[in-house]
Amino acid sequence: MPLPTLARVYPGTPRHLAALARRLRAGELVAVPTETVYGLAANALDARACRKIFTAKGRPSRDPLIVHLLSASELEQVAESNAAARRLAEKFWPGPLTLVLPKKKIVPDVVTAGRPSVAVRVPSHRLFRRLLKLAGVPLAAPSANAFGYVSPTTAEHVRLGLGRKIRHILDGGAARIGLESTIVDLRDPARPRLLRPGAITRRELELALRKKIATARSASRDPESARGELAPGMLARHYSPRTPVAVHKNFPRGTAKLKNEAWVTIARPAGRAAKNIFWLDARGDLRGAARRLFALLRELDAGGFKKIHVELARGGGLAEAINDRLRRAAAR
Ligand code: TXA
Ligand code: MG
Repeated sequence: MPLPTLARVYPGTPRHLAALARRLRAGELVAVPTETVYGLAANALDARACRKIFTAKGRPSRDPLIVHLLSASELEQVAESNAAARRLAEKFWPGPLTLVLPKKKIVPDVVTAGRPSVAVRVPSHRLFRRLLKLAGVPLAAPSANAFGYVSPTTAEHVRLGLGRKIRHILDGGAARIGLESTIVDLRDPARPRLLRPGAITRRELELALRKKIATARSASRDPESARGELAPGMLARHYSPRTPVAVHKNFPRGTAKLKNEAWVTIARPAGRAAKNIFWLDARGDLRGAARRLFALLRELDAGGFKKIHVELARGGGLAEAINDRLRRAAAR
């Protein structure tokens, strides 16, 4: 049921942070800024509070949530850790990396969608960290968008999507990274697997663990992944605007003549660009492109185009994460 009033957007003053922390402890939902995308947070140890996340997002209850901690030293409280996890935590936390590990009993089943594993990350966003500290409990949070839609990278995106479903949004500015965290399955530390590419790249993880990291999809012997349920956020169709999206290795020549279709390149094209040509970063810097991607998809979705064409990023590293989101946006 929609709420009668629109969610309020709060600045991160000490007074507002204290009030929002109290609300979280009391079992309410608060949308929070993170360095990756905005999240919809609840006390991770309160099953009733976490159930509200699924209702507000229209998220299926089989899609588990990520538990956010203030520090890696709290990891053992919610998960069964191992040497590989400690190594990655030391190197990449606080930051955009989520680890999947066997869960401890204290984590309610609703958070993990009934799985014996839990996804955990220590975020780096300054205001989210202050809120975590004041709340004094781990916070479960998926991205703060309606299920299946593009993740929000500003407080305004959250308000537009969930403004009538939630009451409180903490404004921490535009997300610095703009793509959801990298997720690594470390349940078996001898066989780490990449469940979702992100700003911490496969190469960085491999260097840290001195090991090849397979993509979960190829590990079909795992009974969970064979049923397509290992990382439900990996649903082929996800992060999708309503407007159909098509991805291209290279744009065919002359296509921009179709005025009712939008064309998105990674870098600014040479010469004068037609009105229906857009780019993610003037110089083609992939970090800039990642930061802009979801906001541009939202703008174009509202722009009345019949189709959005996007050029795939080249190279490894962040390109893998950008192209992953583009392919999901394009999947029907
Ligand atoms: O950057 C991020 O990760 C953001 C911010 C808010 O931290 N969160 C986020 O959550 O993107 P979201 O909406 O992607 O949902 C969490 C995803 C699930 O869809 C699933 O793919 C994965 O995390 N996940 C959670 N628990 C899992 C588990 N036990 N096993 C495998 N995957 C899990
Ligand atoms: Mg999400």
